[in-house]
Amino acid sequence: MYRIIMDCDPGHDDIIALMAMLAHPETFEILGITTVAGNQTIEKVTNNALKVLDYLGFSQIPVSQGAAKPLCREPEPQPDAHGESGLDGPVLPPAVSKTTGLHGVRFMEKILLEQTESVTLLATGPLTNVALLLELNPEAAKRIERICLMGGSLYGGNILPRSEFNIYHDPEAARIVFRSGIPIVMSGLEICDAAAVPLDAYPTLAGGGKASRLTVDMLDFYTEYSRVRGWSDSAIFDLTPVMQLLRPEIFTGENYAVDVETQGELCRGMTVADFTGTWDAPKSTCVLKTVDRDAYVQTFLESIRKLDSVIG
Ligand code: RIB
Ligand code: CA
Repeated sequence: MYRIIMDCDPGHDDIIALMAMLAHPETFEILGITTVAGNQTIEKVTNNALKVLDYLGFSQIPVSQGAAKPLCREPEPQPDAHGESGLDGPVLPPAVSKTTGLHGVRFMEKILLEQTESVTLLATGPLTNVALLLELNPEAAKRIERICLMGGSLYGGNILPRSEFNIYHDPEAARIVFRSGIPIVMSGLEICDAAAVPLDAYPTLAGGGKASRLTVDMLDFYTEYSRVRGWSDSAIFDLTPVMQLLRPEIFTGENYAVDVETQGELCRGMTVADFTGTWDAPKSTCVLKTVDRDAYVQTFLESIRKLDSVIG
C-alpha cells in the first residue's frame, strides 16, 4: 500500500493519474491533494481538482491550494495543451467542495508530521510546492520515502528543445528537489513517449460508466494536440509515475545523479543526468528507461473500467 500525497496541476493527464489511483484502493491510499500553478493558474487547477473529485464521488479527499507562481519566475499557463480552463473538453457540474484553507505546503507539512508510516509524494506538476516544503521543514521532508514525479528528460524537450514543461516552469524548485537526496523515480519524456497510448485505444471506453465517459471526453480534447500533428498516439504523461507504482514489473530504469539547468537561455529547465559519474553526487534518481507499452495501455483501460465499478 502506497500512502500518497499528490501534488498536481490538473490538467487532463493529472486527472487520469488520479483516476488510476482511485481505481486501486488496494494499492493507493490518497492522504491528500495539493495544487500548484502550471498548466493553468492556481485558481483554475484547484477548481479542476475539486470539480472532478466531487463528480466522481471522492469529495472526502482533502484538497489544498498551493503556490500561485514559481519560486522566482512568472507562471506560464499552457492553454494550447489543456485549454483555458485547464481541463477543456468535459462539461462537469461546478465544484461544491472547498479546499482545506491551508496552503498546500503547510498541508503537506501537517500530513507528513502526523504520519507514523512512510509517505510517497507523487508530483505531476512543477515542483514549486515540493521545494518549498523541503526548505520550510526538513523534519517533515524526512518522512517522504520517495518522490515519484513526471518531469524532465534524458535528451528531449516539449517546451524547449531540451526542456520538459514541469521542470522548465520552475527550474530553481526542481534543482532543490533533485539535490535533496530523497529517492526519486523520474518519469521523463522518453518513458512517457514510449508508453504513449494509441489514439484508437481509449475510444473502447465509450459506452462505459462515469469514469469511462469522463476519460473519453478528456482525451477527445487532449489528443487533438497529437491528431493535428499527424501522430498515431498520445502520451498521457502523468499516468506514467502511477503506472510504475501499480505495475513496476513492466518498467526498467537506471540510477543517476540528476541536476537541473537554471541559468541557460537555450536549456532553462533541462535535467542533466550524470551518465559517467563525473559529479561526486549520490545517484538518487531512478530514471525510467523502458516499458511494456501493451501492458501499460491494457492496465490503463482496465483501471478506468475498474473505477466505473468502484463508483457504481
Ligand atoms: O510535460 C508534461 C507535463 O506538463 C504534464 O505533467 C502535464 O500535465 C504538464 O503539467
Ligand atoms: Ca501535470
